[in-house]
Amino acid sequence: MDLKTAQFTKHSKPIRQREILVKRQELWHSVCHPLCRRRYLNQNPHPEALEAVTRLQSLILLGAVLSVAGLSGCTRETPLEFASSEQVLALADPNDPENAEASKKLQDDLRAALAEYAGTHAEPKLISDSYVTQETLKLGQKVYDTNCLQCHGVSGDGNGPAAKYMYPRPRDYRKGLFKFTSTPYGYRPHRSDLMRTLRKGIQGTSMPSFKLLPEEELEAVVDYVMALGQRGELEAQLVEMVEFEEAVDPELIPEDYLPNVVNKWVDAQGSQVSPLSPQPVFTLEHVKRGEEAFLSKELGCFKCHGPDGRGQTPDNLAGNLKDNWGNATRAADLTSGILHGGQEPIDLYRRIYSGINGTPMPGFANALQSEPDKLWDLVAYVMHITNARRRINQLNEYKTKDEEVIAAPLPGPLKPYIPEVTPESATESEEPDDA
Ligand code: HEC
Ligand code: HEC
Repeated sequence: MDLKTAQFTKHSKPIRQREILVKRQELWHSVCHPLCRRRYLNQNPHPEALEAVTRLQSLILLGAVLSVAGLSGCTRETPLEFASSEQVLALADPNDPENAEASKKLQDDLRAALAEYAGTHAEPKLISDSYVTQETLKLGQKVYDTNCLQCHGVSGDGNGPAAKYMYPRPRDYRKGLFKFTSTPYGYRPHRSDLMRTLRKGIQGTSMPSFKLLPEEELEAVVDYVMALGQRGELEAQLVEMVEFEEAVDPELIPEDYLPNVVNKWVDAQGSQVSPLSPQPVFTLEHVKRGEEAFLSKELGCFKCHGPDGRGQTPDNLAGNLKDNWGNATRAADLTSGILHGGQEPIDLYRRIYSGINGTPMPGFANALQSEPDKLWDLVAYVMHITNARRRINQLNEYKTKDEEVIAAPLPGPLKPYIPEVTPESATESEEPDDA
């Protein structure tokens, strides 16, 4: 830019700006008031002026519509927040207005303490592991809020907008209870259990597989699920404290209540169950011995699953059974061909040895401690009855597809089916330790 033009622009700038300002003022008056508008148009009877005014008016109208829409939630996203549990909400009794102020203070103190130790949606924290960074938890949160929230809810209460009609219901993580674990009965899950659930999904339920997500995202969302679980557990602990002490005592939290949450998770990471004896190559003998054990009074499997394993017991049929989350449950139909906790012998071993947390399915670790082989017999039997149904279904499918009768299932008792140990099942058994 040469000196001349520089001076020219320098001097002309304020003049030009004043001109523009005057024009804008005129336009503004012409638009904001119909009378002004008419006067303006009378003074400027050019089609461009008319056009400019009309254009401005529509712009203002559009702006108004957009901001109303934005305020009502159409375009502006409200930041997500963790909700308080039913127990926290119940601290304020609407029928007791006299204590309204005191109970509001209790709730506020409790929420503040919870946010301090377990974080907020904006700044999540994993209580049991301070090495997990904010960055990782934020990544986990992003994955969770995109893929899981619809079913499991923002705060992991299992009450997302899609959860209502599901059976079984999406897991409420806040009790720290997980069903399909490799740890002893009553223990928190091992990290690898959550990874396995994510990779494989839970067959026969709405829980999908997320094996296509990158490894880093799976790991991060597991951290986030653990953070949601621990937040819920601490919340329940703080409610207990408030009920007991009638106040939130900041000193007692790190001393008593925090360890109650953290220790269980730390213990679980070192307590995976390994089979008491190595997995045998299954024969019909195993299946037969398994059936005997299944029907024996000492173990009593048949009392819940029915003598034929189909779960057609009076309790089940009446639908009276409840799980720890308060949802209806029933002893599994072991012949359905669908096993929620996994198909492999080691999966079944763990279900029978450790039971299924939060449900009436007990663990048989103590009952079978001195007869470890019986556990594998039971595994063989359950695989036998579940595969028999699956095999018939497969044969039927095959028959209709090729319009050729291969081997139609015969009426009467099923031919015995002996589960094989495939190379795949042998490697699967190693999986929980490598994740
Ligand atoms: C379409 C609904 C749906 C979506 C989406 C979904 N889940 Fe689930 N999830 C379920 C249901 C239903 C169960 C309970 C199954 C049962 O009780 O057998 C479950 C159970 C679980 C469990 C508990 C497993 C156990 O051992 O108890 C975990 C952990 C879990 N989901 C994590 C996730 C994560 C993480 C995501 C997102 C990446 C996700 N889920 C997305 C429906 C869903
Ligand atoms: C007190 C009742 C009860 C008894 C006794 C019982 N079960 Fe169960 N069992 C259940 C319930 C309830 C479930 C379903 C849990 C769930 O997923 O909600 C179940 C689930 C199972 C599963 C898991 C199925 C799957 O989908 O993965 C297996 C395997 C099983 N039971 C085997 C046995 C065997 C073998 C015995 C005896 C050694 C036995 N059960 C005794 C109630 C019982």
